[in-house]
Amino acid sequence: MPSPPASTAIKVFVCSASLRAEWLNHKLATLAATVAGATGAIVDLASMAEFEVPVYDGDLEAAQGIPAGAVAFHARLTASDAFVIASPEYNASMPGGLKNLIDWTSRFRPQPFDGRHGLLMSASPSLVGGNRGLWALRVPFEHLGARIYPDMFSLSMAHKAFAAGDLSDAALRARFDKTVQAFLSLAEAAAHYPCMKRAWVEFLGEPPGQGEDRVDAA
Ligand SMILES: Cc1cc2nc3c(=O)[nH]c(=O)nc-3n(C[C@H](O)[C@H](O)[C@H](O)COP(=O)(O)O)c2cc1C
Repeated sequence: MPSPPASTAIKVFVCSASLRAEWLNHKLATLAATVAGATGAIVDLASMAEFEVPVYDGDLEAAQGIPAGAVAFHARLTASDAFVIASPEYNASMPGGLKNLIDWTSRFRPQPFDGRHGLLMSASPSLVGGNRGLWALRVPFEHLGARIYPDMFSLSMAHKAFAAGDLSDAALRARFDKTVQAFLSLAEAAAHYPCMKRAWVEFLGEPPGQGEDRVDAA
């Protein structure tokens, strides 16, 4: 795919939701960053280890405000046009730490996930590749108004899938590239062509105005 001119390049925030450095979801996030960079996107690669937060507590928020880890996550998220999360699956759902970080970040006003395009991916040694966790992860993101890309990428038997940081199966790598590139092309259109954004919202069956049951986006 040819690189777009710098003026139309989008910024994408890619975050591994595993606290383990250099493990499976970090490898997948790093590969997504490489593919996104090759399409001309400006990439900010992060790991959830950079965004340490206590368990959400309304009393703590009232006394001390939003913790530094969520402030940093919010800053990196809102500096970008789109985001990619590579998340492990824990007990057929999302990791509790990731949900907790989403909860803290949803306390900012304007609520930063609303209208933001996101792509979800997972890696796991299991045969399902962590895909059930991504379906669980869609729920809070979509509740918050994020435009989560319909296709998700789940890498099964991920402990055997990587060779030197890349996917050793060429067909799988081609599918990975296609998913990331198609997502970025939609995010780029949404960032630069408002009519495209409107069509996408209407495709989702929502009125173009702010959803009434969304967490406050004002
Ligand atoms: C508490 C816990 C629960 C897990 N549950 C699942 C699961 O439901 N499905 C799955 O595919 N893997 C499960 N795993 C295995 C993880 O997918 C595996 O540890 C994976 O390597 C984690 O991602 P990471 O390598 O990026 O840290 C679980 C691991 C832990 C620690």
